[in-house]
Amino acid sequence: MESWQEEDLMTMKKNKAIILLTVLVALLLQTACNNSESIPATVTFTEQVAPILYNNCTICHRPGGSAHFSLVTYDECRKNAGSAAYVTKERIMPPWPADPHYTQFVGQRILSERDIKILQQWADEGAPEGPKDKLPALPAYPIGSDIGTPDMRIAVQPYFLKANSTDQFLLVKVPFQLPADTFASLIEFVPGHKNVVHHVNGDMVKYDFYKKTDVFAGDRIVNMVEDTASLLQAFQKLGLPNDDGSYPTLQKSVVNYLPGVVGQKYPEGIGGYFLPRKGAFLFNDLHYGFTNKDDIWDSSYINIFFAKSPPKRPVQEFQIGTLGVAPVEPDLIIQPDSIKHVYSKYTIPADISILTINPHMHLLGKSFKAYALQPNGDTIRLISIPRWDFNWQYFYTFKKMVKIPAGSTIVAEGVYDNTRQNLNNPFSPPQLVRDRNGSMKATDEMFQFIITYLPYEQGDENISLETK
Ligand code: HEC
Repeated sequence: MESWQEEDLMTMKKNKAIILLTVLVALLLQTACNNSESIPATVTFTEQVAPILYNNCTICHRPGGSAHFSLVTYDECRKNAGSAAYVTKERIMPPWPADPHYTQFVGQRILSERDIKILQQWADEGAPEGPKDKLPALPAYPIGSDIGTPDMRIAVQPYFLKANSTDQFLLVKVPFQLPADTFASLIEFVPGHKNVVHHVNGDMVKYDFYKKTDVFAGDRIVNMVEDTASLLQAFQKLGLPNDDGSYPTLQKSVVNYLPGVVGQKYPEGIGGYFLPRKGAFLFNDLHYGFTNKDDIWDSSYINIFFAKSPPKRPVQEFQIGTLGVAPVEPDLIIQPDSIKHVYSKYTIPADISILTINPHMHLLGKSFKAYALQPNGDTIRLISIPRWDFNWQYFYTFKKMVKIPAGSTIVAEGVYDNTRQNLNNPFSPPQLVRDRNGSMKATDEMFQFIITYLPYEQGDENISLETK
């Protein structure tokens, strides 16, 4: 009996060992296979590198794209192999400042670890070309619109940029008059010269038909850097007020642009705009970046896509911080050679569904974080930007609407770096910098968190906002 038991125990042990070994071997084989499958010993342009670049980079790095150099042909990529490996490893490119481990958004541009390793290995191995017939086709990039064929196109007044000029911040009016009131599903800004138009934040001025005789009267452009006009004086110059001097309604953020970002299209039934017979788009700023050795006339325009019916669920918006529903605390006054922490918080009175958020700071920004504290103490994450980048201030759309229950407090926290270590510091030596009633000059500061939302409806949190 006993020996039988012992023998049985022995076989059991042996079996266990065999099973363990098999599992181990299988695991080893699997990792070996995975590795060889993911990154071959020799990485070539046509086989492994071009697919990564064409999927993640050429939307900006191509002839006519927003970046100054192209990453399309083998030669162009070979020349930039080292810097491409560096900027991807450091996650400077593709530009995506939001931390994907905190929250995820529609259209986020993030390379996988594998892609980064491939670019690294390719550069290290001298950037070989590989078989020419393996080169994938470059994606088709539409001309004149990133979305489709618009129903109406309105030109922005062309603007002259001298060779070797620096940043320009313009306040721009783009007036329109239509035969009748109508509706739009989407308003798209299309830059004339992609490599000089930096960004656009545009609102819509909606006139009461009988209160404004001529929407086309007044200047079209005020340069906010050269012209020391206050915002109110600038509005006068642009002829924005009604005939009696009162101000028409303003709908915020109807048209925004940033290189590489395709217009905000929400699923059927969400968003859309009422377009009055008389109105104007107001870019509260159009930012032109540096020009190189050539003079440029920039002719940008707006594409409008009409909608058949009024917006079912028009989006709404509020902002906290500078000029918002809740102040910046403490005051946004940043002493030279200091790091400054500020916050703004606002308790929402009703359930909302957040669609899109936009954090905004200027050159001294160091990091940004926003979340909502629910009445039950739980936190809802909104966004974390560990390394603020003035150049990439996206409107971030959540993959699914985010429900924030009534009584929650939305908190935005910002950190500013006004030391010499901040390479973007516009002053050397550092100077006192503060917000000035929402002055948009890059050398003044702002702290804003803009929230686009809908009043909550049952099931909103399950609605995907990905439209492709
Ligand atoms: C959203 C647009 C956009 C995308 C996407 C993008 N880039 Fe860039 N990239 C830029 C801009 C703008 C610059 C600034 C220089 C310029 O204007 O050419 C830049 C600069 C660079 C530089 C030069 C950095 C330096 O220090 O001068 C490299 C290298 C680069 N990008 C590689 C890449 C690679 C590789 C990818 C894809 C993995 C990528 N970029 C994706 C817009 C983009």
